[in-house]
Amino acid sequence: MIGVLVSGNGTNLQALIDSEIPIVCVASNRPGVRALERARAAHLPARVFSLDEYPEREERDADMADWLELHGVRLVVLAGYMHLLTAPFLERFRERIVNVHPSLLPEFPGARAIDDALAAGVDTTGVTVHFVDEGLDTGAVIRQEPVPVEPRATLVERIHSVEHRLLPAVVRELCAAR
Ligand code: GAR
Repeated sequence: MIGVLVSGNGTNLQALIDSEIPIVCVASNRPGVRALERARAAHLPARVFSLDEYPEREERDADMADWLELHGVRLVVLAGYMHLLTAPFLERFRERIVNVHPSLLPEFPGARAIDDALAAGVDTTGVTVHFVDEGLDTGAVIRQEPVPVEPRATLVERIHSVEHRLLPAVVRELCAAR
């Protein structure tokens, strides 16, 4: 039983849906994003947990964890979720949260990983799927795949296509192992 957290376009959510991963609900920190449309199109319960509605981030995260647990979520997948998770959430799903990130971590953490790799002039970047802890794109690496930077014009597209293959594969293996 998978819960997916999103913030934006939701192409990784779509890849999980298309791979028939057993998703039970989708939560977003932002209203009006394309990922929510994708969730609704797949008839998945979807809810926005905006920071505007809470005095503290911890309270938002505690509510979001309650909602996921109500839906029977055992494994949380961050698919382009762009907020750090706080202790009340991490403690509830310890070692049961995975994230996909567009670099070979620990290189280029953060929200601009592809731009940062280009600016650094590396020949190779890639994709990482890892367990989530309290840090910014830290936590034990589960799988990585390198992606050559050249040709630059297609780098973003090639990284996304690796993400869309790697994330469902890892999630499927984690489900089978549990
Ligand atoms: C993906 O490239 C994902 O790796 C990245 O955001 C994008 C979301 O795309 N995540 C991070 O940078 C996390 N630090 P999507 O909304 O189309 O799946």
